[in-house]
Amino acid sequence: MSADTITRTRVAIVGAGPAGLVLSHLLQEAGIESIVVDSRSREDIEGTIKAGILEQGAVDLLSSIGTTSRVHTLGDRHDGIVLGFAGEEHRIDFPGLTGRSVWLYPQHEVLIDLIAARLAAGQDLRFGATVTSIDGVDTSSPRISGTHADGEPFTIEAEFVVGADGSHSVVRPVVTGPSRQGGYFREYPFAWFGILCEAPKSSEELIYSNSSSGFALISQRSENVQRMYFQCDPEVDPNAMSEAEIWDTLQARVPGTELKEGPIFQRDVLRFRSFVSHELRNGRAALVGDAAHTVPPTGAKGMNLAIADVILLNEALQELLLQGSERGLDRYAETASQRIWKAQHFSWWMTSMLHLTPEASDFDRMRQLGELRTVVESEAGRTYLAEAYTGWPFATTL
Ligand code: PHB
Repeated sequence: MSADTITRTRVAIVGAGPAGLVLSHLLQEAGIESIVVDSRSREDIEGTIKAGILEQGAVDLLSSIGTTSRVHTLGDRHDGIVLGFAGEEHRIDFPGLTGRSVWLYPQHEVLIDLIAARLAAGQDLRFGATVTSIDGVDTSSPRISGTHADGEPFTIEAEFVVGADGSHSVVRPVVTGPSRQGGYFREYPFAWFGILCEAPKSSEELIYSNSSSGFALISQRSENVQRMYFQCDPEVDPNAMSEAEIWDTLQARVPGTELKEGPIFQRDVLRFRSFVSHELRNGRAALVGDAAHTVPPTGAKGMNLAIADVILLNEALQELLLQGSERGLDRYAETASQRIWKAQHFSWWMTSMLHLTPEASDFDRMRQLGELRTVVESEAGRTYLAEAYTGWPFATTL
């Protein structure tokens, strides 16, 4: 085996997802060098079809990164959502209530742009690089070590380590301590059965529907590819249902809209979990994005929270590495937590208002309809939903 290759940089970022790539971009703009490593291959990252809702503020940030302005052309601006219940459909008008909109955008396309932009800017970006140890976070020169795709060992000596490596983060245990659990956790007794199908749009806007036969969400990917979900048991086998059964289930749950059917080419089951790491920073290591927290998908907050974390950590790292001050870093966890817990609450609230647990009583069901009616019939209720969905202003550690 050849000798370990040791590289020095200022910030070692684990994870080349949206959080890690945006952070390396912002740091470079401030003249701070970083190395980004990811255990996945570039093809894997760019080829996994993912999408999500971006808040206005997140879109503005991505647009400011020159090449990712495709978020405007590839993404679709949504000026509202439809809440369905009791056989009725109620639209929540985002710009009318908050002056803001959201974008439904293809995450993998944005990652393709970000990776190309980072490489063009000379970023040391290593795919297929697996981190096996992180040391010295209690010193001013932490190190990460692991192996490259070709089996060569590497060590990166940095001044700070960032865990932007998703819900199975290898950096998290170093931040939270040896228990490895180290978080606030909630699991829901239901999941979403998701499909991708080749069909025209059934609706221009997202429909979140609480029907007497259960929850469904009608979303879109493009003019001819659609994404839809329905509430299911977490243990369900996604291949056990016929296409006809899937369409019958979906259609029964959106009684106000006639679904346009087409061949289903992907099925998956998404478990519902809420998680927030007890610690977001330990010495010279910090967590951002899914490494720090998980939200159930109902509030469409995942990617937006990651961007909000990165904005704060970027400020704190600039203060540390350009001015030698830990003031911003000392405020990172507390400042980030405030938005994280607002988003946790919103995601839980949307989830609990739109889904019934298997043991729910008739009282629970009627109360839930009362809650939905309270929200849609009150401008204050609609405004709270629209404010949270389109995103609160970004905080600052400055
Ligand atoms: C999606 O299009 O996949 C999607 C949209 C909104 C959500 C969750 C998922 O709340």
